Amino acid sequence: MILRKHVTAIFLFPLLFSCGPKEQTLTNIPEVEELLKKMTLEEKIGQLNLLTPGGGVATGAVVSENVEAKIKAGQVGGLFGVAGPERVRKAQQLAVEHSRLKIPLLIGSDVIHGYKTTYPIPLGVSCSWDMDLIEQAAHMAATEATADGVMWNFSPMVDIARDPRWGRIAEGAGEDPFLGAAVARAMVKGYQGDDLSAPNTMLACVKHLALYGASQAGRDYHTVDMSKLKMFNQYLPPYQAAVDEGVASAMTSFNDIDGVPASGNKWLLTDLLRGRWGFNGLVISDYTSVNEMVEHGLGDIQAVSALALKAGLDMDMVGEGFLTTLKKSLEEGKVTEEEITQACRRVLEAKYHSGLLNDPYRYSDAQRPERDILTTENRALARKLATRSFVLLKNHDAILPIKKEVKIALVGPLADSRNNMLGTWAPTGNPDLAVTILEGFKNVAPNAVLNYAKGANISDDAEFAKKVNVFGPRIVIDERSPETMLQEAVNAAKTSDVVVAVIGEATEMSGESASRTDISIPESQKKLIRALVATGKPVALVIMSGRPLTIPEEMDLPVAILQVWHPGVEAGNAIADVVFGHYNPSGKLTATWPRNVGQIPIYHSIKNTGRPNPEGGYEKFKTNYLDVSNSPLLPFGHGLSYTAFDYSDLKLDKSEISTEESVTITVTVENVGDVAGEEVVQLYLSDVVRSITPPKRQLKGFKKILLEKGEKKEVTLTLKPEDLKFYNNQLEFVTEPGEFIVYVGTDSNATLSGSFVLK
Ligand code: BGC
Repeated sequence: MILRKHVTAIFLFPLLFSCGPKEQTLTNIPEVEELLKKMTLEEKIGQLNLLTPGGGVATGAVVSENVEAKIKAGQVGGLFGVAGPERVRKAQQLAVEHSRLKIPLLIGSDVIHGYKTTYPIPLGVSCSWDMDLIEQAAHMAATEATADGVMWNFSPMVDIARDPRWGRIAEGAGEDPFLGAAVARAMVKGYQGDDLSAPNTMLACVKHLALYGASQAGRDYHTVDMSKLKMFNQYLPPYQAAVDEGVASAMTSFNDIDGVPASGNKWLLTDLLRGRWGFNGLVISDYTSVNEMVEHGLGDIQAVSALALKAGLDMDMVGEGFLTTLKKSLEEGKVTEEEITQACRRVLEAKYHSGLLNDPYRYSDAQRPERDILTTENRALARKLATRSFVLLKNHDAILPIKKEVKIALVGPLADSRNNMLGTWAPTGNPDLAVTILEGFKNVAPNAVLNYAKGANISDDAEFAKKVNVFGPRIVIDERSPETMLQEAVNAAKTSDVVVAVIGEATEMSGESASRTDISIPESQKKLIRALVATGKPVALVIMSGRPLTIPEEMDLPVAILQVWHPGVEAGNAIADVVFGHYNPSGKLTATWPRNVGQIPIYHSIKNTGRPNPEGGYEKFKTNYLDVSNSPLLPFGHGLSYTAFDYSDLKLDKSEISTEESVTITVTVENVGDVAGEEVVQLYLSDVVRSITPPKRQLKGFKKILLEKGEKKEVTLTLKPEDLKFYNNQLEFVTEPGEFIVYVGTDSNATLSGSFVLK
């Protein structure tokens, strides 16, 4: 059982601690201390080595060499890229039966959005705003992963991203620190449960510490340069929330912070993470990120490895700089034995918490995969979560939902493209198991007449396709000419009652190392859309993507647009559920959609300048552009429904509060449409005057509710004292007296407002 205790943090910054860590895993465990006493220096250093094997032991990226021999020699602390109870058992046997101290291995994996039952990409999941469902999905992923021998998850990824050029925006919860923190907590809870050593829970790993989503120009792995104020107020809260939730491990990011890469950044890993936040778990590097500090210009492999250890990094992923240089650094007085011991202690403590020290084969039960993986219930949960992740961006003439007994032209390069359903970072998923949209339509609407046509290639650019297809065929350029394909789709449209066009990005057009400077729909598909609309038939666009896209042209068309991200293994069924109205869409955007890339970075919690331009046109000497308005194409929190909700009667229970008091806000929400629907009621707060320039408004609360047709509900939201706090110029987490304005509504442009004064 995991032992919890209240941690007394080391206050490196007196009085700066905000809402400190609630629970962290126990440290200084007798079993671990006993083991440490028996260990040689080499064995301690061996525990700091995290490898991904090839060849003999298991499948996985063939990167690390001689893994078997190293395990036997006590030179490996953990592996990733190894799965399956038998393979994991075999790997553990190498450690337990052959190494001197018989210390089992941590077995990690990137279980980013489901293990084998792949659910939508995390950006999509966040659009559900449903924390219970997110926790359930994470728990399902943990159950499947542990059934397959994996007890350590390199997730949640909680990097705030405000630049949709960055491909990894797909992997996180979007732009907002309040929502991001809530999602981080739900995921850690779902993975870790209450008992880390239970057979169906796993150690979570919050990543990428820190600020990875702010890489310059959205180019992956790029420099980050950010003020401390922005870090503390906007970018760090989700990492801290994961720590507060008791996350067992953390992974450093590739980028630098204040000139020092995260993997060697003592301020980040020791002063902030362990000191200020009270984290006492395991810190690992990202893939070769220790070695990469050589390229960053911080010295040779020995120097950067010593730097990383001294900064507070415990485990070195793949690079083996620790393994090959720490002994020498110790002999030369560049690191201390205590620093090596401390890092080793943290690796062993993680093993203790996962129950491995008691039973190395705890996660090698050959019966479990059959019982726990890809079950009917799991697939049903993936389907449900997918339907909740979809965002109805527009619905001209109520084109959606579509009646089931009609003739449908189902067109587009993603309508029957199994390889593109799972989305980025689904290495444990199997694309062959994914349900295509064509199949989903047949399942859900067996009586509909379907006229299928591909209509266009995802992109006609063969060079681009080559880059996207590194993990297999994602963009398949048809042998037929674009004109022939287009004509076929137009013919299908003309002979149908309605058109559904499934378009957008292939799976690997977003994700790691998949940044784009042009985030519009590729021209091949735009042509298709124009031609379909020109037929005069009602057109519903179903857009798949791993990021917000720039779609001003499509938004202007008389169409419906359903944004479905990359929905996972149940893609087709879930899309059919929503298209045919079995589920009324309720997703809300968690990242702002720009009009064009020139507006990036773009996010809702912007500040006023001294020369604000109220929307409505260009004004000289105001903060605006000559060529485009300041407002985004689609605001944060936006998402329509097949019904409509009316907000009224906003009330605050107090007009004046002290710093210890909460404010209770009530609002009446009524379903004024014709069908039942879910709505995410959102609360934004504006701190009118304070010592540092405030954002115009910030998300500070939300609640997802279900309203039957005609139903009216009074919804209660609470602002707690910490919701009014911010980090000031001294990085103190404070409130300042004065007026606050509360806005409640259906998106970040909510207008219904009330106010109170903090005395
Ligand atoms: C990614 C991490 C991932 C790691 C191990 C890296 O390239 O940045 O997010 O956990 O690989 O697969």
